[in-house]
Amino acid sequence: MFNNLIDIERLTTDEINQIIALAADFKTGKAKSAVKEKVLCLMFCENSTRTKCSFELAAKKLGMHVLNFEAKTSSFNKGESMKDTLENLYFIGADAVVIRHSTPFIVDEALNAINYPLTLINGGDGNNAHPTQALLDYFTMLEKIKMVEGKKVLIVGDISHSRVAKSNVALLNKFNADIHLCAPIYFKPKNVEKYNITWHSDIKTAIKGADIIMALRVQKERHINEQYQLEDYIENYQINSKLLKLAKDNVLLMHPGPVNRNIEITSELLDSEKGKTILEQAQNGVFVRMAVLNLLLSKKGARCF
Ligand code: CP
Repeated sequence: MFNNLIDIERLTTDEINQIIALAADFKTGKAKSAVKEKVLCLMFCENSTRTKCSFELAAKKLGMHVLNFEAKTSSFNKGESMKDTLENLYFIGADAVVIRHSTPFIVDEALNAINYPLTLINGGDGNNAHPTQALLDYFTMLEKIKMVEGKKVLIVGDISHSRVAKSNVALLNKFNADIHLCAPIYFKPKNVEKYNITWHSDIKTAIKGADIIMALRVQKERHINEQYQLEDYIENYQINSKLLKLAKDNVLLMHPGPVNRNIEITSELLDSEKGKTILEQAQNGVFVRMAVLNLLLSKKGARCF
């Protein structure tokens, strides 16, 4: 079983199934915590609502202690390195740290740098990976449509900046979904075809017969040199009720959040019954993160100093 959660690629399908099954048991109240009194540190160096709050609530529901590391007032600002910070947090008493950071691969690098058995969980690193988001998305899909094998999953939007898209593609490929990606040229990643997906630039073609549509946030904070017009995106890629009619009748509409209302999805659609799945994704994040924490930390022995 995994000791850290860095990305989806390193999980086996058995491990993912185990997380999903345990999350379901936490949701129905069948599972019990095996990690009471363990200590989780939340190191969020980039903004977050869903990931941070649901990890905190997950830890509290499991009877864990939570350390809220404040990056802005931390000794990072005195020049302390990530390695030294994590090793000090371990000696203070943290069993695990969730890291959210704007730098891709920083969690991987931290794992290689530290000399102590602190568990690291990637809470989203730049445009690289967001494994717990993909797990909660998969959990929500299974709740609604039972299985993804052979199902047409369309991911649409700012794919080149999206860690959510990468982690979802990695996970959905493990379970043989029929993955379609759609974006304008300015949001098309380099070498995207290597990911075993079907690429589209035309949303009307892409959306036909879709079982699941996952819209992505336009990530303005990561658009350093890109030239694009938001009006062009809205006119050609925004999900609205008319476009949704081209998908399957019971199509599942998803979005990792936060949503830019009236940019990726119309406000009217968000507030309709179809838009409710997006809130259920956030809710399921608590149970999936409870499962991840329980599996990662329950097998660790007593700390020895
Ligand atoms: N989906 C997601 O990661 O949301 P937050 O940035 O609010 O955590």
